[in-house]
Amino acid sequence: MKIGVFDSGVGGLSVANKIMEQLPEHEVVFVNDKDNMPYGNKTKELLMELVVPKLNKLINDGCEVIVIACNTVTTNIVNELRKEIKVPIVAVEPMVKTATEITKTGNFTICATPSTLKSPRYQKLLKEFASNNIVFQPDCSKWSFMIESDQIDKKEIKKIIEESKMNNSDVIVLACTHYHWIEDMIKELASNEVTVIQPEQPLVDQLKRVISQLT
Ligand code: DGL
Repeated sequence: MKIGVFDSGVGGLSVANKIMEQLPEHEVVFVNDKDNMPYGNKTKELLMELVVPKLNKLINDGCEVIVIACNTVTTNIVNELRKEIKVPIVAVEPMVKTATEITKTGNFTICATPSTLKSPRYQKLLKEFASNNIVFQPDCSKWSFMIESDQIDKKEIKKIIEESKMNNSDVIVLACTHYHWIEDMIKELASNEVTVIQPEQPLVDQLKRVISQLT
């Protein structure tokens, strides 16, 4: 089966690699939108305009399932996409619930784009699962472009991880797929008591379930 994977940029490539590693019997077609990235400050309307043609192209090219490897797209427009797009969609989303299950201090950090943090879908996740937690949401607005252009400023990342520690966060959620590329750096900067989580494995597990229903 052909699996279409979409992100604004290189974040989705990390997700596509994980899918290829675990589902080698399927073909992964990865498409991004480098010309218009970063998506992290775009409106819902603009995201729809940019994303729908890309997904339709993947479907025309024979993809039978679409993976949205972009938290910004999921949290802002996944409901609209599910109405518009004719094949099943599997999508990454900020791991708020998992963070609440892991944290011992009750405090955790969500690293995400500004559009993700502002989205009603993300706000709903916080309300539903994290109303008793203290959630630190640092300004990571520069991170995805920094990673896309391979100009990673370790000092900038260190500053935020230090702030996260000062907030007594013992879990850091990578809620933008671009940040998967700096997961090791974040783990190195965070102390041993901090757990860094990202959604690739749960996404692949969900994708396997969806594929098994289609075949
Ligand atoms: N990789 C995307 C995400 O997961 C967005 C990066 C961007 O374009 O700002 O949110």
